[in-house]
Amino acid sequence: MLQSSVEPAGSLLRHHSVTAPLARRQIPKETNMKFLIDTSGRPQTGSGLLIIACFADDFQSGVAPKTRSLAALGQTSLMRAASEQEFAGKSGQLLSYFADRSALSGSVLLLGVGDRGTFSLNSLKDALAKAYRKAKETKSADVVFDAEPVLALGVDPYELGRLLGCYAVLIDHNQKHYKTAHSNPKGDFNVRTLKVHAPLAVASKLKDGLAAGRSLASGVTLARDLVTMPAGHLTPFKLMEAAKGVVARSKGLITGNYFWGKRLEQMGAHALLAVARGSSEAPVLIELDYTPETGPTTETLCLIGKSVTFDSGGLDLKPADGMRNMKRDMAGGAAVLGAIQAIAALNLPISVKVVMAATENMPDGKSFKPGDVIGTMKGLSVEIDNTDGEGRLTLADAIEFAKRRGAKRIVDFATLTGAVKSISGDIGAAAFGNHPDFTQKVVKAGATVGELMIDIPMWEELRKANETDIADLKNSGGGGAGSTTAAWFIREFAGEEIDWVHVDIAGVAWRERSLGIDPKGATGWGVRTAVALAESLAVK
Ligand code: BES
Ligand code: MN
Ligand code: ZN
Repeated sequence: MLQSSVEPAGSLLRHHSVTAPLARRQIPKETNMKFLIDTSGRPQTGSGLLIIACFADDFQSGVAPKTRSLAALGQTSLMRAASEQEFAGKSGQLLSYFADRSALSGSVLLLGVGDRGTFSLNSLKDALAKAYRKAKETKSADVVFDAEPVLALGVDPYELGRLLGCYAVLIDHNQKHYKTAHSNPKGDFNVRTLKVHAPLAVASKLKDGLAAGRSLASGVTLARDLVTMPAGHLTPFKLMEAAKGVVARSKGLITGNYFWGKRLEQMGAHALLAVARGSSEAPVLIELDYTPETGPTTETLCLIGKSVTFDSGGLDLKPADGMRNMKRDMAGGAAVLGAIQAIAALNLPISVKVVMAATENMPDGKSFKPGDVIGTMKGLSVEIDNTDGEGRLTLADAIEFAKRRGAKRIVDFATLTGAVKSISGDIGAAAFGNHPDFTQKVVKAGATVGELMIDIPMWEELRKANETDIADLKNSGGGGAGSTTAAWFIREFAGEEIDWVHVDIAGVAWRERSLGIDPKGATGWGVRTAVALAESLAVK
């Protein structure tokens, strides 16, 4: 039986990175945005910004909008402003309106949400992101959202609250961790309150939804923060400390086991150890278990995240451009860590295991070499075709470990191949699975939260690309279809007995532009998919 470890032994601490030459990190504190519900029926902006959802129907017909808060603005001046600025309530259209002659004192943002007939919470998402972004840009400390118009359509108040709360926190999150007073003299701006106007009858459901939205968003921002941290700060052991932080904040719902040094040798994590050999940072295998308050469940989910804290390529060194943002190569690990934090905060009734095999991939006299043949925890031998194919090696051992611990349903999130960008660009991820039913569940879970995945068929012919003359497998397929051959490599370790899906997030974990709710840079992609999947498995 594998034993959990206590604190790192002194000799291992020598491997800890020396952070002295780096600027002090300034990880933003978790949001302390206040959520309030106002049932007075009289939206007041105060010093803040009042966001009112507007349906296109109302602006086409010229009929006075039914919304109470719109009526308070004064029909004539409102309709004049709308026509002057060609505001027609189309989804995502914004109209800033200074309501000086109305009953309201502050500024108002009309948010187009399209026609009533086609409205859904899903169609509200992008528009809402735009409105919140505007509030942030205009440094509106207090944001008021009038939820009456959309609630009037019968929208579920819990789900609406969850969306409003989650998006507010996500947009409010800053990623300027390392800016000092020199370039950021006033410090980061944060929204102070989000007040939602709603009828008393739905207030309590709405409130629960807002709280759940905050839990979910905190998982996403944790993932983003970890990915944003430079590799010089976020070493494998620092990632372990982050995991311990999640355990410590889980009110006893999450437990952790951490394996390094001799323990990894004892369990035969030869693939992980091979990748780590060129680095002066010690690798660590992290295992977290969430058990619901009501006890373990028969349905369980295992989330595995690629956790390469820096991928230089190893001796098959990456060119400068390709290496520049390789601190992101632990984004899969960050996502599953954020997910289990959120799952515990949401008290989901399903047991969830997280496994992260954390290491750096560096060139050195001790590095594993092209042509080396290494062992794996499962026992398969692997010829190293390219030291830059390190992710699949770490995942091979993580999956075998999870299986030994009884995992029956595994989803791995990994920044695994550059080639995935030629499949799904920076829009979505590619999913590969061994059982179509489960793969579909994963893809669907993502779709409900706006994380798109394309289900790529795993042609049997491509499996052969991983064959080699002198060992069981080689670690780079070659001959094109690089994302699929990488998936086939991992599948050799998952086998066919258990449900397994691999999600290649190399195109979405980090973007060079902001998109939808995601900022430029680290996105936290995968947290919401993993949480939605856990929810969908839990309700059965
Ligand atoms: N971490 C990279 C994949 C990657 C590329 C992530 C771009 C994010 C953005 C991975 O370890 C890698 O280097 N993959 C190689 C595989 C090849 C050597 C078989 C690749 O994609 O080129
Ligand atoms: Mn690599
Ligand atoms: Zn990598």
